[in-house]
Amino acid sequence: MKKRLIVGISGASGAPIAVELLKALRDTGIESHLIISHGGACTIRQETSLSVEEVQALADKVYAQVDIGAGPASGTWESLGMAIVPCSMKTVAGIWSGYSDNLMLRAADVTLKERKKLVLVARETPMSPIHLRNLQELSMMGAVIMPPVISYYHHPQSPEDITRHLVGKILDQFQIDLPQFCRWEGEPHV
Ligand SMILES: Cc1cc2nc3c(=O)[nH]c(=O)nc-3n(C[C@H](O)[C@H](O)[C@H](O)COP(=O)(O)O)c2cc1C
Repeated sequence: MKKRLIVGISGASGAPIAVELLKALRDTGIESHLIISHGGACTIRQETSLSVEEVQALADKVYAQVDIGAGPASGTWESLGMAIVPCSMKTVAGIWSGYSDNLMLRAADVTLKERKKLVLVARETPMSPIHLRNLQELSMMGAVIMPPVISYYHHPQSPEDITRHLVGKILDQFQIDLPQFCRWEGEPHV
């Protein structure tokens, strides 16, 4: 299996997490294959200090949303799976319904049908019954639903610490070890 991961950036809040994920993949030698939606480009501009082009430059290969004939659109294209970071409720709905009218949705659809790992860093708050139904059913279909929820046990000192910890959790799903990832080792003895 080729060590490559499909990364989708959709239009939910949390673009800095995707930037950190791309940097971590680069540092760990895993090929990143990047798809950015129109909404994803908006959040990159809104939430990071980078341009969309600078984010794309962090990836090994970049695909347009309209490129539905690209490698990640096929089940025979080898990958470790796909992470959509962050994942909007619209993209969640598209995956849930199998309405694969762009490359990000098609790649997620293929990842599910091939029974590969699909991680959705699904972000909205509060969530409506529609969001919760879609996420619950996608979870039953095998997707890993991983909202970008803060952990405190590693005593984050900055938003970057929080982001990096989230990236460590995402990569763990693909058995990719992030150096300095702070794991819970049980309560210290008193
Ligand atoms: C700055 C910004 C932040 C947004 N945050 C969210 C969000 O956190 N969750 C969400 O589901 N949609 C959010 N949206 C709305 C989505 O971007 C919108 O529904 C879009 O159509 C999603 O399309 P996509 O999934 O193809 O990127 C946000 C939009 C903008 C412009």
